[in-house]
Amino acid sequence: MNTPRKQVAEVMLKYDFAKRILETQLQILIKEFEFKHGYNPVEHIKSRIKSESSIIAKLKRKNYECTMENMQNHIHDIIGIRLVCSFLSDVYDIVEVIKSSKQITIKEEKDYINSPKESGYISYHLIVLIPIYLHDTTEYVEAEIQIRTIAMDFWASLDHKMRYKFLGESPKEVKEELYQCSLDIKALDKRMNELNQFINKYDCNNEDVGSNKL
Ligand code: GTP
Ligand code: MG
Repeated sequence: MNTPRKQVAEVMLKYDFAKRILETQLQILIKEFEFKHGYNPVEHIKSRIKSESSIIAKLKRKNYECTMENMQNHIHDIIGIRLVCSFLSDVYDIVEVIKSSKQITIKEEKDYINSPKESGYISYHLIVLIPIYLHDTTEYVEAEIQIRTIAMDFWASLDHKMRYKFLGESPKEVKEELYQCSLDIKALDKRMNELNQFINKYDCNNEDVGSNKL
């Protein structure tokens, strides 16, 4: 980018503030949920800020000039947060919790669970706006939250390794096999969710059930 370094650094600092605010806010919402329901639906959280070189590569891939304006208007995942849940029902519970939060404004919602992508990709995405309160202004910074189950995460990371963002098209049979695997993942998630609903009918009174930590 030909923008002066200081200007780039200032914008990136705002993304860093917003990421920290969003992480904290999500942790509060999850803790509150856990307190209320006696169970933590989130297995793990991952977050990252896109590197400058990845931002530039993505702008080029999308045929945009490398300007700060294009970056802010067209790259929606400079802040990326991934919430990996145990069960399918947890994904929807967490989506509802986030949507009802007053600190988080929903800009766009993509339900790739009900409408998977052509590749077979399954996940729930929320593009959100996070307010950051600077000394004299309030600015809204965009972030992408991906909410998915462990099974969806397993598929997506292996798919990413094997194919996603390859420069050329991957062979038809690879695509087809990955798509078939995504159907298996979807069916497995459904079975696990039903099994969990069945298990929940039993009152086991086991204090440690919400965590598999030692
Ligand atoms: P990009 O795909 O990021 O250029 O943006 P988009 O506007 O097309 O958004 P989309 O909702 O399609 O994808 C956003 C993100 O979802 C990606 O950056 C990936 O992290 C993830 N994603 C989307 N499609 C796939 C896929 O087929 N496989 C994998 N592994 N991840 C995907
Ligand atoms: Mg895409």
